[in-house]
Amino acid sequence: QTLEQELAQIQKGAFSHFMLKEIHEQVESVVNTMRGRINFDDRRVVLGGLRSQLANIRRSRRLIFIACGTSYHSCVATRALFAELTELPVSVELASTFLDEQMPVFRDDCCLYVSQSGETKDTLLALQYCKERGALCLGVTNTVGSTISRETHCGVHINAGPEISVASTKAYTSQFIALTMIALQLSDDNYAKLPRRNEVIDGLFNLSNDIKKTLALEPQLKTLSKEEFGTDKSANLILIGRGFQTATVLEGALKIKEVSYIHAEGINAGELKHGPLALIDEKMPIIMVMPKDRHYSDSENALKQITARYGKPVVICNDDDDSSNFSGLKTIRVPRTVDALQAIINVVPLQILSYFMATDRSFDPDSPRNLAKSVTTA
Ligand code: G6P
Repeated sequence: QTLEQELAQIQKGAFSHFMLKEIHEQVESVVNTMRGRINFDDRRVVLGGLRSQLANIRRSRRLIFIACGTSYHSCVATRALFAELTELPVSVELASTFLDEQMPVFRDDCCLYVSQSGETKDTLLALQYCKERGALCLGVTNTVGSTISRETHCGVHINAGPEISVASTKAYTSQFIALTMIALQLSDDNYAKLPRRNEVIDGLFNLSNDIKKTLALEPQLKTLSKEEFGTDKSANLILIGRGFQTATVLEGALKIKEVSYIHAEGINAGELKHGPLALIDEKMPIIMVMPKDRHYSDSENALKQITARYGKPVVICNDDDDSSNFSGLKTIRVPRTVDALQAIINVVPLQILSYFMATDRSFDPDSPRNLAKSVTTA
């Protein structure tokens, strides 16, 4: 054993891998992201890093989120709430696509760069591109002193603590919260949004506890990984969800690909009939994410379409869902929170499943083949 390996073992503590340790750390990391920024008594959000530019951000004509990988998914996950609270047009772009297409950017645009490392080359190149065009640039990173946090005009550190595992877990949930807090702060001059803001802030208050309850599903998920997604099963997996859960299925599929090397695909349930339904038969492993929110009846419809074709999805649903929709199916029951935050809870069982799918196959989830934690080349 090298000194480095020994040190890593000490850092991992009781956990066999950093990935599992970081999944568990989410109980605390989500609190650290909010610490000193949300006052839960008077339900106010104050992000010191945005203070100098707050008025300018509010005056922007539109918001453009730019990121790669998991960070991109945190933008997809929060876009709807951002648009709802700020009433600004919000677009979400992959840094590489954004540069490929040389998208038009103007002086009155506000661009948000989301990056765990703060060093991702494509994201940095997009930042340069927008700065040259006079846009206001805001950074959301986990790394104090990183290039993105230095080169942007203002920003928010997510304070998730160091993330070692290549597959990002706690950074994702903290990015989600940081973006949510930015939307809350930007809209706090809009009185009409007060009830919605309060509802979200109360949801954030309970989040750590909800994550703790979700982590308790680990033994069930370990068994499920073997029984439903074991090595004797198809090497494909599709994840289906819609609305706030579109990001959850994209991020869940990315985690599974990264660490278990299974071909996983996240599909928006609204697109099912436009192609993916052709994939469904009794052999295709499927995960469906359908919490009780305003998309529930659409999801029920999608579930019927799937079971009519002999698909047998494992369903991630709320623990208070007493419908008869899931008879004969396996369910993963998670605590219910506000619709706009539910994706934070729902991604956790997918992180855990992907971890076990990797270790069941004797792969090291901390260092997946061909991947790097920080991609500093374009
Ligand atoms: C790499 C990592 C991913 C990460 C992506 C973006 O591909 O393996 O986990 O999501 O880069 O990284 P960033 O540091 O910009 O969030």
